[in-house]
Amino acid sequence: MKTLFLFSLLFIAPTLNALGVNVLIVGSGGREHALAHTIAQSPYVSKIYVAPGNGGTQQMTNVSNVPIKPTAINELVQFAQQEKIDVTIVGPEAPLALGIVDTFTQAGLICVGPTQAAAQLETSKQFAKDFMKRHKIPTAEYHAVTTLEDAKNYIDSHDVPIVVKADGLAAGKGVVIATTKQEARHAAEQMLNGNAFGDAGRTVVFEQFLEGQEVSFFVLCDGKHGVPFATAQDYKRAADKDRGPNTGGMGAYSPAPCVTAELHTRIMKEIIEPTLAGMAKEGNPFVGFLYAGLMITPNGDPYVIEFNCRLGDPEAQVILPRLQTDFMEMCDALIKKQLHLKPIAWDGRKAVAVVIADSGYPQKTHPGQIITAQPSRKSTLYHGATALQDGKLITTGGRVLAATGLANTFMQARIYAYNAVQKVRFAHMRYRTDIAIRVSKE
Ligand code: AMP
Ligand code: GLY
Repeated sequence: MKTLFLFSLLFIAPTLNALGVNVLIVGSGGREHALAHTIAQSPYVSKIYVAPGNGGTQQMTNVSNVPIKPTAINELVQFAQQEKIDVTIVGPEAPLALGIVDTFTQAGLICVGPTQAAAQLETSKQFAKDFMKRHKIPTAEYHAVTTLEDAKNYIDSHDVPIVVKADGLAAGKGVVIATTKQEARHAAEQMLNGNAFGDAGRTVVFEQFLEGQEVSFFVLCDGKHGVPFATAQDYKRAADKDRGPNTGGMGAYSPAPCVTAELHTRIMKEIIEPTLAGMAKEGNPFVGFLYAGLMITPNGDPYVIEFNCRLGDPEAQVILPRLQTDFMEMCDALIKKQLHLKPIAWDGRKAVAVVIADSGYPQKTHPGQIITAQPSRKSTLYHGATALQDGKLITTGGRVLAATGLANTFMQARIYAYNAVQKVRFAHMRYRTDIAIRVSKE
């Protein structure tokens, strides 16, 4: 509790700045590189560690990578105690699913994110669906099954397209939108028998297919209050024109122009407020970033497709560059459960991020490729699957880099982002060419 006391004092008495806050960021993707960039700008911060980080975080001054996996929670606790970490920020869902917040809290450490129980909003689709039904939160009709026979009965009695989802975590790849009954049967079978996603697929959730525009709606929550954070839209399919398999995200832009002031109010009233009230009422107050993946139907009604309990990737790479409020002041307000008193200010400009991936992503990638990247004015290159090896930057997985442009118009932001993409080279490199085209006239 000592660290909480010091940390809380920090912003009441600015003269204590010299104390310096030590921050640990958990994760290794572009989102975590963007978090490190943002947090590094805070005058309150003394030292930033990223576990395990990537080539981008390693190149930053005042930032150190720590070779601990995000899921090795006891090692992270030990490290946080040793290095006197004042606050830990969790990027990905896997450690949240394992209860990193619960374990850190038990050890007297501050860790920003939801508890394991609250994270179920993301970690179990069935939990999320049942929760939404209980609290009358608009979402697609659904039906959960655990046997092939029940799956076949559902498919036989419904029209295509049929949405087939693995119940558990599948890194954004556990959804099949089947356009034939045969495809639906095959997907359900592969999930149920454990071939597709192991235990995450032992329960399958079928859903009514929703049409419309997808929006990522982020809210920052302290367990008592939820303040709207930002909106974004991402591109989930691997290839141009929304073709190819689902991925974690191939590009994004922020804000989402289709979220008008009126729609924003409706989303807060009909979705966010009942969700946070329901979680608190059921004994799981939500702390951290709540990310509602919404479908806005053609007649303008918002429905929840899924909840996530973290920032998105690559959404973070378009949201955080627009954040003007000091990240650590925001964390302080969150820890004190006074988020409603902390205004959050945004850069009015538009941001566009283009993910530069390995051509094999989301399947088998070609790690170890040497990356060359010329610096580009007016854009930021966030690293994802990169590492520094013998002074050379190499690829280590699927989503390698994200180039973010920030400008007064989406069209200009897009030009900045793609200019930066042109300056990157590595073997098996691939990116979508249509990111933010649909909003370029805005
Ligand atoms: P999820 O992992 O639940 O976010 O689903 C991944 C993607 O599949 C979403 O971003 C949507 O593009 C699509 N999707 C999921 N559920 C539905 C649904 N009920 N109707 C239409 N598309 C969906
Ligand atoms: N870009 C989608 C996600 O982070 O889940």
